[in-house]
Amino acid sequence: MALRNIRKMGDEVLGKVCRPVTEMTPRIKELIDDMFETMYEENGVGLAAPQVGVVKRIVVIDVGEQPIVMINPRIVESSGEQTDYEGCLSVPGKSGIVTRPSYVKVIALDEDMKEVTIEGKDFLARAICHELDHLDGHLYVEKVEGDLVDNQSPEEDDDEYEDDVE
Ligand code: NI
Repeated sequence: MALRNIRKMGDEVLGKVCRPVTEMTPRIKELIDDMFETMYEENGVGLAAPQVGVVKRIVVIDVGEQPIVMINPRIVESSGEQTDYEGCLSVPGKSGIVTRPSYVKVIALDEDMKEVTIEGKDFLARAICHELDHLDGHLYVEKVEGDLVDNQSPEEDDDEYEDDVE
């Protein structure tokens, strides 16, 4: 396992439409392990492969319930609405208000390339939508209502703060 360098807004890889994964390989397994390690190190709750420079449809999420891996994910159902602050490890120190569905259902492949259905409500739904956008080259800043704001304590390891960042 190793930490990977997180690409920041302005890096062209973040604008790419990512390619589907067709088979699991030791290299992709290692990528997924590294993505989790990097996400936890940075106190994030989600990370998409393009954020570490890999143009593949892979996302990892952990909003504090359990680690989730999603390969080639697609949203098959969504409902409701939630409006709240959102952040991104590729846009450090900033956050902004984004409206997302309050429920999504996703079909994806897991690490064994088995199809899984994942349902997310509230914050998990937000994290899923945010990370899946990365796979199509979109950042949350495109959806922000109003202005991006500076986080008050971007360097602090603060639980309360963490809840607003993904
Ligand atoms: Ni992000």
